[in-house]
Order: sequence, then structure tokens, then C-alpha cells
Amino acid sequence: MYDLTGRVALVTGAGQGVGAGIARALAAQGAAVAVNDLEAARADATVAALVATGAAAVAAPFDVTDRDAVRAGVAAAEAALRGPVDILVNNAGVPVGMTMSPFRTFGPADWSRYVDLNLYGSAHCMQAVLDGMCGRGWGRIVQISSGAGHTGTRLGISIYGASKGGVEGLVRHVAQEVARDGVTVNTLALGLMSPQPDGPDGPDGPDEPDPALTSLARQVPVGRLGRPDDVGAAVVYLVSDEAAWMTGQTIDLNGGATT
Ligand SMILES: NC(=O)c1ccc[n+]([C@@H]2O[C@H](COP(=O)([O-])OP(=O)(O)OC[C@H]3O[C@@H](n4cnc5c(N)ncnc54)[C@H](O)[C@@H]3O)[C@@H](O)[C@H]2O)c1
Repeated sequence: MYDLTGRVALVTGAGQGVGAGIARALAAQGAAVAVNDLEAARADATVAALVATGAAAVAAPFDVTDRDAVRAGVAAAEAALRGPVDILVNNAGVPVGMTMSPFRTFGPADWSRYVDLNLYGSAHCMQAVLDGMCGRGWGRIVQISSGAGHTGTRLGISIYGASKGGVEGLVRHVAQEVARDGVTVNTLALGLMSPQPDGPDGPDGPDEPDPALTSLARQVPVGRLGRPDDVGAAVVYLVSDEAAWMTGQTIDLNGGATT
């Protein structure tokens, strides 16, 4: 099950964190992976780790908010991997230097970069690959969102949450429009992820060395924060042949934090 041999995947923001975990999971199932990131060095590092496992992978460094760069970057990745993108994972969603601030003091000068990245950046990537997917009669798009896209918090992330809510709405409409073309489009809305990239007790130390994070982890019903590999496993299912009947959904992946 979940064999992705012969599929070409593009994962945005995959130079670190959740996106790198998604790239690892897709490659482990046999997909060739184009690793996008704004930071070329990060994309290169993820590619090197994938290639070391025997996977096919290329770096695709571009800014997803730049529509022309997205088109050119997708074309270059498709040429390098000798095949069109069958699987798109829109993971880039944390703007560089993201800050937390109550809405009353969060001025409009900072709003657009959240919406540009999460709504328009995802839309640019979808439009770069959707014609090809529909023409071939098969495609999979997974949008990475956050519980903050549909649940209010007091964390000072209102515009970030609104940008995630916006793209969740886009996914529902696009999924309906392309459902008859063999293309599924779903959203995974994540709960709080561990900043430790290698999971519990890996070489970078104990799972949650920060007391504040330990406290947050205890509030999660399964007793820990999320890990990139948790997300990778869910993405593998959503992009598989087996998930053909799953589309247009927003799925919370959060250790049971909301049910
Ligand atoms: N970390 C969490 O607790 C958490 C919780 C809920 C949802 N999410 C979502 O998960 C996704 C990944 O989060 P993360 O914590 O791994 O983020 P991260 O900041 O660790 O990594 C994201 C990567 O995206 C890249 N990036 C940023 N802007 C880009 C752009 N314009 N074009 C291309 N690449 C760009 C960055 O260079 C970075 O390498 C995001 O969509 C985020 O909103 C994260």
C-alpha cells in the first residue's frame, strides 16, 4: 500500500522542520522529490539527506510568493526529475521573522506577508501544476495549515490564523472543481509541533527541553507535541492511490488537542 514509485512530488518550505519530514516520508515510499525552500542552502541539505538514502531528489529554491519564480522553478524541477509534478504539498507557511502580537497592536504593514505566503503562495503553486494534473487525470495536493485556521486562540497569531483560514477555504473550492479530473485536494491542519526535528531523545537532545513546551506537551491528549514524521505519514496516505475518495477535507492532526 501507499507505493509512490514513479510519482514526482514538490514539497514547499522543505529545507527544515515539517517540510523536510514530509519530503523524507514521500521519498521513503518511492517518490522523486523536488525540495523547495526560500533558502537554497536548506533545500540542498534536505536533498543531500534524501540522496544519501538512495532517493531521487533535487533542490528547487524559489520564493512561493513570486508567481514567475514558481512557474520557472516548477519547470526546472520537472526537467531535472524527468517528469511532471503529480504531488504538491504546500507546506511553506511561516513567514521569515514571524512575530506574535495581539490583534489590537498588530499593524497592517505586517499583514500582507502572511496572506501572500499562505493564501497567494499556495495558490501560485496550485496553478502551476493543476493543468498538468487535470490533463493527465491524476494528481494530489495537500495543503499544510494550522488549527489556528479555524479555531481562535489568545496566542497573538490572528492574521496568521486568518491566512490559514483563507487557504483552507480555497482548498474546499478547488477540490470541488477538479474532483472529476482525478485530482484530490485536502488540508492537514497541524497542532503545535516540537521544535526538535528528530523526535524524542534523538541526537539533538531530549524531546522538549524547554519547560514551557513540556507544559504545552502535557496538555495534548497523547502527551507530546507533533513531529515532522507524524505529518509525513499522514501526507503519504493523502497522496496515495488509496486515498482517491478523500478530497476537500480539512483534517486536524494534533494529538487529539481538538476533537
Ligand atoms: N511549527 C508548528 O508548531 C506548526 C503548527 C501548525 C502549523 N504549522 C505549519 O506547518 C508548516 C511548516 O512549519 P515549520 O514549523 O516546519 O516551519 P519552519 O519555519 O521551520 O520551516 C519552513 C520553511 O519554509 C521556508 N519558507 C518560508 N517562506 C518561504 C517562501 N516564501 N517560499 C519558499 N519557502 C519559504 C523557510 O525558509 C523554512 O525553511 C507551515 O505551513 C506552518 O504554518 C506549523
